[in-house]
Amino acid sequence: MRMGVVGLGMGLHLAAWAARLGMDVVAVCDRDPASHAAARERLPGAVLTGRWRDLLDQDLDGVVLANDFDAHVPLALAFLDRGVHVLSETAACADEAEARALVAAADRSSASYSLAENYTLHPHVLLVREAVRAGELGRINLIEADYLHGMSPEGVTGLTGDPAHWRGRIAPTAYCTHSLSPILAITGAQPVEVSAFTVDEAAPRQASTMVVRLSTGALAVTRNGFLQGEPESHWSWVSVRGTLGLAESVRARGERAWSVRVRHEGWTRPDGDVREEERVPPALLLDGEPVERGAEGTVRLLRGFRDTVEHGAEPLVPVRAAVAASLVGVVGAESLARGSRPVPVPLL
Ligand SMILES: NC(=O)c1ccc[n+]([C@@H]2O[C@H](COP(=O)([O-])OP(=O)(O)OC[C@H]3O[C@@H](n4cnc5c(N)ncnc54)[C@H](O)[C@@H]3O)[C@@H](O)[C@H]2O)c1
Repeated sequence: MRMGVVGLGMGLHLAAWAARLGMDVVAVCDRDPASHAAARERLPGAVLTGRWRDLLDQDLDGVVLANDFDAHVPLALAFLDRGVHVLSETAACADEAEARALVAAADRSSASYSLAENYTLHPHVLLVREAVRAGELGRINLIEADYLHGMSPEGVTGLTGDPAHWRGRIAPTAYCTHSLSPILAITGAQPVEVSAFTVDEAAPRQASTMVVRLSTGALAVTRNGFLQGEPESHWSWVSVRGTLGLAESVRARGERAWSVRVRHEGWTRPDGDVREEERVPPALLLDGEPVERGAEGTVRLLRGFRDTVEHGAEPLVPVRAAVAASLVGVVGAESLARGSRPVPVPLL
């Protein structure tokens, strides 16, 4: 599989994993020449360019878009129209018009669109999803997901303080796919309506909470941004309550953060006893060795993309689920601007 990568921050990390998994990373691009030396060192055989359009002529099977968060759609359209499979790093679209254009392009293309959502594939998320799919929790009524960093004030300013960088210019609700995509994957629901709240009015850009009505009738609550209480499972915490019980990732240090606590009350069980257990995810092996927990999602993501490109497997997060997750952040920003009023998510 001939692969290209645009954007060599997170993109270089993905390119290195793709190469380790046996994919042929033949061409990479970054407009900033300062990023080129590291790419040359880690991917010595790859064509290196500063213009992403050069990758359209590299006879690629697939491309990873890891350029600026809010600028993926023009590239996605161009590669899809060229018949190149697209794996887009976490933001699908920046507004409704882009969402519609992306869905149309994916529908007319001979190639596929996938959102590069490693958060749906983290070990704790898969364990929760398994419990839900097996019916252990009954009908889901409340699902919560956090994507939170417990960084120092200096760290947050360093990351988001430059209004010219995408991290400084996007709305505080925008970076929500790492919590929304797991919510949608676990429930199989669509987001219907969003109310967004600034967490701390003294620091309005740092964190937001969104309350999302889902098409199944359940409620989702999601917290995104920078708040203390670092979840050590790659900044992700998930909790699901159903009519029969609860499953949630354990708020703990280190390895236990990937485990899931499952609780059933006595009234739900034939023996009348409360049942509570902590489930440990099985290790994911690569060449006989366990993959580091935080990278499991990335390995599953890239393997899934290869299955889509080479064998026509359904994308792990296809275009409609991708834009649905991103649009929650878009209408969340509108809700913030309207004093937290509920705003409907456009139906595509
Ligand atoms: N899934 C994850 O765990 C995860 C982690 C980090 C970042 N991301 C996502 O990856 C994307 C990039 O994030 P990042 O942290 O690497 O950002 P970054 O700003 O550090 O890097 C982006 C790179 O893309 C380059 N670039 C931007 N526009 C370009 C263009 N038109 N042509 C060529 N190069 C261009 C920039 O020069 C920069 O080097 C974002 O969408 C982000 O959400 C995902």
